[in-house]
Amino acid sequence: MDKKVLNKMLRPKSVAVVGASATPGKIGYSVISNLLKDGYKGKIYPINPKESEILGVKCYAELKDVPGEIDSAVMCVPAKAMVEMTEECGKKGVKGLIVITSGFSEIGRKDLEDEIVNIAKRYGMRILGPNIVGSLSNSDKFNGSFCPSLPLPGKASLVSQSGALLIALAMATWTRKVGFDKLISIGNMADVDFADLIEWFNDDEDTSCVSLYIEGLKNGRRFIDAAKNSKKPIIALKSGVSAHGAAAAASHTGSLAGAAKVYGSAFKQACVIQASDLDNLFDRTLGLSSQPPMKGDNLLVLTNGGGVGVLATDAAERYGIPLKFAPEDVQAEMKKHMPEFGSAKNPVDMTGMAGNEWYYETVKYAISNKWTDGLVILYCETSITNPHEIAESIKRAIDDSGVKNKPVTVSFVGGDRSNEAIAWLNEHGIPAFFAPDVAVNVIAALREYAILQEQKNNIHVKPNEKAMKKSMEIIEAARKDGRTALTEIEAKAIFEAYGMPTTKIALAKTEEEAIAAAKKIGYPIVMKIVSPDILHKSDAGGVKVNIKDEAAAREAFNTIMKNAKAYKADANIHGIAVQEMAPWGTEVILGSINDPTFGPTLMFGLGGIFVEVLKDVTFRVSPVSSVEAMDMINEIKGAKILAGARGEAPRDRKALANAIVNYSSMILDLKDEIAESDANPFLVYAEGEGLKVADARIILKKK
Ligand code: COA
Repeated sequence: MDKKVLNKMLRPKSVAVVGASATPGKIGYSVISNLLKDGYKGKIYPINPKESEILGVKCYAELKDVPGEIDSAVMCVPAKAMVEMTEECGKKGVKGLIVITSGFSEIGRKDLEDEIVNIAKRYGMRILGPNIVGSLSNSDKFNGSFCPSLPLPGKASLVSQSGALLIALAMATWTRKVGFDKLISIGNMADVDFADLIEWFNDDEDTSCVSLYIEGLKNGRRFIDAAKNSKKPIIALKSGVSAHGAAAAASHTGSLAGAAKVYGSAFKQACVIQASDLDNLFDRTLGLSSQPPMKGDNLLVLTNGGGVGVLATDAAERYGIPLKFAPEDVQAEMKKHMPEFGSAKNPVDMTGMAGNEWYYETVKYAISNKWTDGLVILYCETSITNPHEIAESIKRAIDDSGVKNKPVTVSFVGGDRSNEAIAWLNEHGIPAFFAPDVAVNVIAALREYAILQEQKNNIHVKPNEKAMKKSMEIIEAARKDGRTALTEIEAKAIFEAYGMPTTKIALAKTEEEAIAAAKKIGYPIVMKIVSPDILHKSDAGGVKVNIKDEAAAREAFNTIMKNAKAYKADANIHGIAVQEMAPWGTEVILGSINDPTFGPTLMFGLGGIFVEVLKDVTFRVSPVSSVEAMDMINEIKGAKILAGARGEAPRDRKALANAIVNYSSMILDLKDEIAESDANPFLVYAEGEGLKVADARIILKKK
């Protein structure tokens, strides 16, 4: 039902322009003029109390005067008239409002925005915007916006949170030769958001790929779900990636979780391909809208020039699809279409002598060969070849091969003739660019898309009822105490409940209790102060390690107590934690934040300087699958250390992946309670020997 409403809004058969104007230069004039100029075939109903017709179209004083049904209304009246006009639209039975009008939440008038959304809801209407340029659809010749013209027709569609950028990009489609079918300005997202549109595009047969310009998401989880289930590739350019809220964060994880990192991880989980800038958004959109995903790693590069071949080789490594030598039989076949001094390895260098036929034969063979998963075709303009003819040979070879399930990208380096050939190739559905780097970057996006689809996490984790119950008892007791910081003992008990082994620990209120606990745990031991008022225990002289016998334990107990009182005379001291001195292991950190956009989000990295100085950490939004957990382990720069660098035995990565999955369940189950947490250090032992949380911290949400 909802999709039908969006259909009427975005592909209307009839449209009212509320606040249509006969005065050139006004937005209400521009919308009418655009609808007419760009050939909209549906019914147009200008609404203006003072005019009888605008640009030859009969004008109505009020919506209720319109004789027919109205699918969509483009709102061009000032904000102060919007409440009344939304009500009128509802009464008339309009389905969707495209609200160009500014003056809502973007200037602090969220109340006004809520009011129009509530009216719309009452009538079953949807609202696009407010504060937008409008909505455009090439296949409906619908320019319901103040964008000067429809974009160059194509198979991609764009949703932009910035209206001005949408207009600019619409114009750029013509010069960049990247075609779009729909351009949708989403503005304040008071109602319709990215997720709604991603879902709607699933059934839009005119859209093969969805490009997004995102400033910020309102509901990150809904976005992930919609994007993950999208039938079409999604590519996103995210702006505003500076750290958010980092300064105020109480935990390590909080201070490391910049927007860029969390968004980057969430996009991965959502199978969304990222663009690095506007150029890259256009380039990758061109590739993703016209080419199939690259199903394997075997990328073959064909060239008539060594230099561009090397540039492509470097780029392939940079973008994560390093070139491999083609098998002997493939090389032998390639050799047939090059001089003696050519190279059939990879890149396949046909040399500067390569003409139309060599390109034709080599491309046709290369794409048909079962070893090849994707093809990058390079060409340097020479005086013995004609770029246009080379382009035609490439297209003919692909067509004649009949292969449709392998992606191809092209780079033509040269002057005007090459540029003309690039445009021709693009018009004929083969993404072509100037620089080899770009051709490789685009095919890398097609490879990434295939990988993300394969790794897609469709896990639905059930809450761990038993662990939740135990954790809630601990949390409620702490809250009763008026605390939001759990003690290490409490935090470790929660980690244990969620299947993460922790070092043995016991609370001792007196010296004798400490000695008894030490005996039970076994020397050597560690002793730490337990006080909600002393979070940085070492700074307070509240930690003693490697305590080997009873005499040392007695001395440590008394010293720690003395230090703690000296550090903070009125500190509420629960006692001293007597703890097993864990054997040496590789230190890693697992941590969590409750991200404002994505909710419970997990961080993983190597401990010590790796996290402190190098910030070598990675994030995932919870829940995390075991495949994703392994991915996290493998994607940090220090992955080799866990794999067993410099003769060390490999670490127990299976147990670590398991701990990541368990950690992710813990923060999801307790999302209403835990604000931030970390297990730092988490000691990982050799393969088969597991791991242990040596120190733990959980900070509760303030209620
Ligand atoms: N019913 C019908 N018509 C109405 C009306 C109503 N309730 N209230 C006003 N109008 C008419 C006006 O009479 C006027 O027509 P006219 O030219 O014949 O007098 C027309 O609607 C527009 O109203 P006006 O007061 O002239 O406003 P405007 O055209 O200067 O500005 C907006 C209206 C919506 C464009 C402006 O308020 C606005 O929000 N601009 C920002 C748009 C924007 O930048 N969006 C984001 C892009 S990223």
